[in-house]
Amino acid sequence: MIEISHLSKHYGSEKVLHDITLKIDKNEIFAIVGHSGAGKSTLLRCINGLEKYDEGYLKVLGTEIGKMSEEELRYLRKDIGMIFQHFSLLEQKSVYQNIALPMQLWGYSKNDIDKKIDELLGFVGLKSKKHSYPKLLSGGEKQRVAIARALTLEPKILLSDEATSALDPKTTLSILELLKTINKTLGITIVLVTHEMSVVKTAASRALLLESGRIIGLGEIESLFLKPDERMRKFLGEEDILPDHGVNIRLYFPSTISDKAIVTAMARELDMDFGIVWGRLEKLGDKVVGSLVINVSESQAPSVTEYLNKKTKIVWEVL
Ligand SMILES: Nc1ncnc2c1ncn2[C@@H]1O[C@H](COP(=O)(O)OP(=O)(O)O)[C@@H](O)[C@H]1O
Ligand SMILES: [Mg+2]
Repeated sequence: MIEISHLSKHYGSEKVLHDITLKIDKNEIFAIVGHSGAGKSTLLRCINGLEKYDEGYLKVLGTEIGKMSEEELRYLRKDIGMIFQHFSLLEQKSVYQNIALPMQLWGYSKNDIDKKIDELLGFVGLKSKKHSYPKLLSGGEKQRVAIARALTLEPKILLSDEATSALDPKTTLSILELLKTINKTLGITIVLVTHEMSVVKTAASRALLLESGRIIGLGEIESLFLKPDERMRKFLGEEDILPDHGVNIRLYFPSTISDKAIVTAMARELDMDFGIVWGRLEKLGDKVVGSLVINVSESQAPSVTEYLNKKTKIVWEVL
C-alpha cells in the first residue's frame, strides 16, 4: 500500500529524515511514533506528496510520489484523507458546510453531497450537529467532523497527524475507537502519527519509532513493547534498576500466557524462592502482555532456565 525505500530529506542543510525504509500494508493501522521534532509530520507529508524527498523512493498505491505531476498528485490525494491535531475546520462554516467542501471542490452534485453527509454524520455519531458551528462543539466532536470530512471522497488511506493530542484521555479513546471502526468496516489503511505511547498501544498493530529522523524501532507492537531493545527502553523512559547480586532474569509473557501463574508454579515445582524485582502487565489493543524480572542465586539459575525452556513457552533473557 505504502512502500518507502531509503528515503532521505533535508530542510536546507539540515537532514531531517535519514534512510527510511518500511512498508505499510493494506488494512493495517500503522503508527509513526517519536518525540517532537523527530520528523513524523515530515514523513507523513511525504506520503501525500505535500513534501518532496531528496533520496530513495516512496510509492503509494503502486506509484512513486516523486515522479508524479501536480495533477496526478491531486488525484492521488483523493485517495488519502488527512486529519490533524487542531482539526482544521473553518469556523465560519457549519458542520455541513465543512464536510461538504472536498465534494464541492470535486464537483459532486448537491444530491450526492447531502446523501454522503447524512451517511457520514451517522457514522461518526453527529447527526444532530449537522447545522452547528465548530465553536459550539467539543474537541472530540470537532475531530469527528474532521474525520467525516476526510472520508467524503472515500479514501483508501487515512493519515492522522496527532489527531488525539489536543483531546483528554477519555475523548482520545473514543476517537481511537472510531478510527479502529473505520479501519475495520471501511477497510481503510490508517497511518497514525503520535508522540503518545498509549495511543500506539491502544490502536496500532505495527509501529515505527523515529528519533532525530532515524528509525530506532520497527515492528509488531507486541514485540516492540515486550522485548524492547536498549534504544527503545530509553525512548520509553525505562531505566531498569537491578540488584547487583545473583542473576536477574527477565521473563516475557506473550498475550496467550500472561494470565497464567507460571512463576508461582515454577517456585513450587522447583521448591525455590525468587526475588521479584519488578513486573508489569500492559494492554496492547485487545491483548495483555507482561514482563517480569526475577532475581535468583547463581546456583539456582541453571535449574530455573532449564525449567523455563522445558516446561514453558516463556521467552527469557539474563540481564
Ligand atoms: N518547513 C520546514 N522548514 C524547515 N525545517 C522544518 C520544516 N518543517 C519541519 N522542520 C524541521 O524538521 C524537523 C522535523 O520536524 P517535524 O517533521 O515537524 O517533526 P515532528 O512532527 O516529529 O514533531 C524539525 O527539526 C523541524 O524543525
Ligand atoms: Mg508533527
